[in-house]
Parts: sequence; structure tokens; C-alpha cells
Amino acid sequence: MRQSLAFLSILPLALTHPTKQSYQCIDFDVPLTFQAPSLEPAFPPFKSHYDSVAFLQSISSRTSSDGPSPYKGQKSIDVDVSIAAQFCFPPGRSPTTVQILSHGLGFDHKYWAFGGENSEYNYVKAATAAGFSTLSYDRLGTGGSTKGDAYTLSQETIEMEILKRLTDHVRDWDIPCLSHLHAPTKVTHVGHSFGSQITNDLVATYPNVSDGIVLTGYSTRKASVYFAIGSNYGLAKDILPKIYGNLSTGYLIWDQQFQAQYLFLHWPNFSPQILAEGEQNKWPFSVSEMLSTSVHPAGNFSKPAMIISGQYDGVFCEFNCTGVLPSASSTFSGATPFKTYVQPNTGHGINLHYNATGAYSVINDFFSSYVKN
Ligand SMILES: *[C@@H]1O[C@H](CO)[C@@H](O)[C@H](O)[C@H]1NC(C)=O
Ligand SMILES: *[C@@H]1O[C@H](CO)[C@@H](O)[C@H](O)[C@H]1NC(C)=O
Ligand SMILES: *[C@@H]1O[C@H](CO)[C@@H](O)[C@H](O)[C@H]1NC(C)=O
Ligand SMILES: *[C@@H]1O[C@H](CO)[C@@H](O)[C@H](O)[C@H]1NC(C)=O
Ligand SMILES: *[C@@H]1O[C@H](CO)[C@@H](O)[C@H](O)[C@H]1NC(C)=O
Repeated sequence: MRQSLAFLSILPLALTHPTKQSYQCIDFDVPLTFQAPSLEPAFPPFKSHYDSVAFLQSISSRTSSDGPSPYKGQKSIDVDVSIAAQFCFPPGRSPTTVQILSHGLGFDHKYWAFGGENSEYNYVKAATAAGFSTLSYDRLGTGGSTKGDAYTLSQETIEMEILKRLTDHVRDWDIPCLSHLHAPTKVTHVGHSFGSQITNDLVATYPNVSDGIVLTGYSTRKASVYFAIGSNYGLAKDILPKIYGNLSTGYLIWDQQFQAQYLFLHWPNFSPQILAEGEQNKWPFSVSEMLSTSVHPAGNFSKPAMIISGQYDGVFCEFNCTGVLPSASSTFSGATPFKTYVQPNTGHGINLHYNATGAYSVINDFFSSYVKN
């Protein structure tokens, strides 16, 4: 497997930001080449917006669970992608634990540094202040990463395999432009929403690759159709033609900020300016990201695990997370410890609420307590 990874061509893009900042970052691209199973869609690619709306009706139908699967089997495909990543660390310190951050649908890696360097919504700032380093990355189809086939490539299992390979590079410290920094001794993972789904899948499939996980905006209830209805998605190429005019019809996005509020935010616990900022930076998601997710029993994962979701998370708790999260203990039956936490006065997009820093403290306290440096 290792020799199939073309890592020699890693590109250091931009070295550190100017001095006097609370943390420093290094951006780079990671080329990855491997084979992975791809689900074969049983439906034809959308020809138009009309097809995509008809499809939304069919997957949200009262009887859809009795109907045919949207996929008709799987086959192995060649994955040849470039992933844009950013490693951040507290200056002047040698962090020993890194957190690998996987964002959800509708965002890119900037979800983890929302509002920039000095923002209170910035998770990377909070994690580095707590002594950790972070590796965030643009999932497939977003930011600076490959925008591949939205039907057959941008799928949960393939994105999990990408996360696995990124993790291997961090564990082996096989990242040339970071070689002047100390290699981390512990590698942990944090996800949001779809990023939590692939992190769950990661430790289910490869139980020993992570020293601890925190899944945010998550539960082990099924969420995908609920997300689809709430987004009332359209084709990204029609909704934002100037930016996404060349993307295939399998790339979807919501139309207006009110849909983003419905999916991610609980009023009055967010600033309208933050909603507008999120809307300006929204990224399309793929039809197969929406459809290919499932909960993966991770009984062989024995390290610390926590799920933290907003009290009013609509996507995974239908707007009331109280009492919902503990049932995930059967999915993480081997995790030691397994904790759940309901973040008060918060919706699905935890990082976009007034009390984001409260949630950040809970997450970093968890890592500080249970993943010994
Ligand atoms: C994880 O387990 C696999 C298979 O048992 C082994 O090859 C690999 O070295 C282990 N990795 C770590 C980080 O322990
Ligand atoms: C789409 O691709 C064409 C040809 O490469 C290019 O000229 C055009 O600027 C692209 N449009 C967008 C919206 O990216
Ligand atoms: C745990 O690992 C064993 C041995 O590899 C395997 O048989 C079992 O299916 C795994 N359990 C889960 C929940 O993945
Ligand atoms: C949320 O769910 C809990 C547990 O079922 C219930 O006690 C509580 O009343 C619910 N909250 C609201 C606002 O409905
Ligand atoms: C902010 O979050 C912290 C951590 O969950 C919590 O203890 C605190 O009560 C929250 N504050 C408000 C106003 O919700």
C-alpha cells in the first residue's frame, strides 16, 4: 500500500503566516493513489434540476424504505486524488498530540477556523491554545481538493479510506514540509456531521489508527434523508453558476441562508452575521455523500470516544438531542471511556454558535484528560 502513495510530489504551498499570532500553520497538498470499493448508482445521473427534485421526492417518500436501494452493488475503482491540508501548531512548543479534523457537508476545512485567526468561533485556535496541534483538510469535492465524480467517487467509504491514508502519513511523519517539526506521538480525530460519520467508519474499519475520537454534530440515528429534505437542495451549477458552473449535476447545494439556518443553527443563539458568512463560504456536497452513509459498529475500538452534539441538533436528533446520544454506546462498546455531552443552546453547526468556545473546552478537556500526552 505504502508504495502506491505518490508522496514525493508533496507541494509546500505557503509557509507560516506572519509572526505574533496565536498559532502557526503550514499548508500542503497530499496526493493519494489507491483502490477502493465504489457503490454503483442504480439511478441515472441527473439531467436537470427537475430530475434532482424528483429524486428528493423519491428518497423522502413515506414508503421509500420499502423501495429499491439507490445503489446496485459495488466495484473496485482507482482513486487518484489530491487533498489540500493544513497543519497548525502552537508556536514555540512541541505538541505531542495531533487532532485530525474532518468537516461536514456544506463546508471546507475553514469550518475549523471559522472567522479566521482572531475569531472566537475558531476551533483550531482553541485546540492549539490547549497545547494540541491540528491537521484539517478539505474533503473530496471542496476547497483545494480534487472535485471528482459526485456519483461514484465522493462516497463515505472512499473518503474514510482517504482519512486512513492521511492518518498513516501523520503517524509515519511522512510529510516532507513538516519534517522540521517534532513528530506527534498520539494521533486523534475530531469530526463534524459527515466528518463524524467517516471518523466512526475509520475506527470501525481500522480500530488501531486513532488514539481517541470526538464526534461533534452526530448521533447513531440515521440522518441522511432528513438532511436532504431540510436542505431542499438544487444543482450547484444552477444555484451558483459563476463559481460552480462546471461541476456535474451530482454536486448539490441549498439555495438560501434560511435553509442553512434550518440545518445548522438555533435561534437566537447565533449571530446573523455568522449565518451570512457561512452562506458566502458554502460548498456543494455530492449526491453520493448524502446517500452512502451508515452507522458502523466500532466494537474493536478501545480508545477514548466522545460524542458532543447541540441540544437542538436537527440533522441527527430532530431538534432535541436530550436523551438521544447515550444509545451510541452500543456502537462504541469497546471505547474506554465512552462519553456523551449535550452542548446547551446550540444547533447542529456547533462552531457557528455564540457559545462555540464552551464546546471547544469540553472537547479539549476530554482529550487532555483521557489521551495522555
Ligand atoms: C494496527 O493493526 C494492524 C493489523 O493488526 C497492524 O499491521 C498495524 O501495525 C497496527 N497499527 C498500529 C498503529 O498499531
Ligand atoms: C468552465 O470551464 C471553461 C473551460 O475550461 C472555463 O473557460 C470557464 O471559466 C469555467 N467556468 C467556471 C464557472 O468555472
Ligand atoms: C472485531 O475484530 C474481530 C477480529 O478481527 C472481528 O471478527 C470482528 O468482526 C470485529 N468486530 C467489529 C464490530 O468490527
Ligand atoms: C427533549 O426530549 C427530552 C427527552 O425525551 C424530553 O424530556 C424534553 O421534554 C424534550 N424537550 C422539548 C423541548 O421537547
Ligand atoms: C457554554 O458551554 C459550556 C460547556 O458546555 C456550558 O457549561 C455553559 O453553560 C454554556 N453557556 C451557555 C450560556 O449556554
